[in-house]
Amino acid sequence: MPRIAPHARAVPASGIRRVLELAWTRPDAVVLCVGEPDLPTAPHVLAAARDALDRDDTRYTPNGGIAPLRDALAARLDPEHAPAVRRDNVWVTAGGAQALHLALSLTVGAGDGVLLPDPGYPPFTMATRLLQAEPQPYALRPEDGFLPDPAAVEAAITDRTRVLLLNSPSNPLGTVLPADLVAELVDVARRHDLWVLSDEAYAAFTYDAPHVPAARFDTDGRVLTLHTFSKTHAMTGFRVGVLVVPDAMAPLMPRLQESVISCVNTPAQYAALAALTGPQDAVDHARATYRAHRDLATGLLDAAGIPWLPAAGGIYLWADVSHATDGDVAAWAEDLVRTAGVAVAPGSAFGPRGEGWARISLTATADDLRTGLSRLPGRAL
Ligand SMILES: Cc1ncc(COP(=O)(O)O)c(C=O)c1O
Repeated sequence: MPRIAPHARAVPASGIRRVLELAWTRPDAVVLCVGEPDLPTAPHVLAAARDALDRDDTRYTPNGGIAPLRDALAARLDPEHAPAVRRDNVWVTAGGAQALHLALSLTVGAGDGVLLPDPGYPPFTMATRLLQAEPQPYALRPEDGFLPDPAAVEAAITDRTRVLLLNSPSNPLGTVLPADLVAELVDVARRHDLWVLSDEAYAAFTYDAPHVPAARFDTDGRVLTLHTFSKTHAMTGFRVGVLVVPDAMAPLMPRLQESVISCVNTPAQYAALAALTGPQDAVDHARATYRAHRDLATGLLDAAGIPWLPAAGGIYLWADVSHATDGDVAAWAEDLVRTAGVAVAPGSAFGPRGEGWARISLTATADDLRTGLSRLPGRAL
């Protein structure tokens, strides 16, 4: 038999999936391990997709997406980014996942290095490996409030490094990078001539701190920005994301997009257009709900004596469960499903720095949070 490409085998398996699959074997399990909004997609968004189907608007679109969607995105993002954002800078992708893959395809080749947050969203590592590039983790440490230390990021740079990946608000941490830190990190990238890939998938959900786009500090066209409709508009299954690219990349984009997806599903693009330009009450409601869930969850953890990291944004809470895990949070999380019927994401699924921590999803219902968190082993106060 011919061999399967080694870089395909080098893509690591998801440590969250194992816990989720175990939870599916127990009908009474409370699932707090996935970031799936438990809120409905807004009716005007569903209607826009239905209308596209009813008028048989089901053919290919331009590679970058339908013009009104790209223009609406450019109009939304232009005031927040330093370089002008025009239609040609905005690429509609098959979810944030494909925006990530596209961004890395544009910036790294075999053996190149990508600076990734540890703990960080697992597909950062997976996509890097699939492109035969090398993950170069930069540590996010509890003593720094899990914020990146620019000096440590700089120390991790080698002559192979091409990309600095930032993620704010963070999955899994819920941290939001303050403006001065974002500016400093973009400056590190500028000094070492790196691309910056800024994953802003959760930009719509900040609570105690404003979202700061990295492109605000882009003086020379080195920042690529990822957005997605998935979480903001409860549209995970529509698969619509966005990659904003610097001018220099725009001419290459049609070929890259053509080689992978040609374009995004047409009715889904009309749904995204309605989501962006229509009423925003569903987004406001989602933000208020996740904030209330965060406050509920932190209260419950406090009562159990379990420490947590303040979440200024995002849809997750990062909890210190090291008192119960005996140095192996992955095994503990699997055991917790079997013995207590609650599934949380083990911190080690997000990188070695996540050992001893667990990610709790705030998109679960309040009832599920109450039941699930009451099943966590408390720590003596
Ligand atoms: C940080 C981050 N980036 C990107 C994505 C990908 O989003 P999508 O579901 O639109 O592919 C996610 C999804 O969970 C995410 O958490």
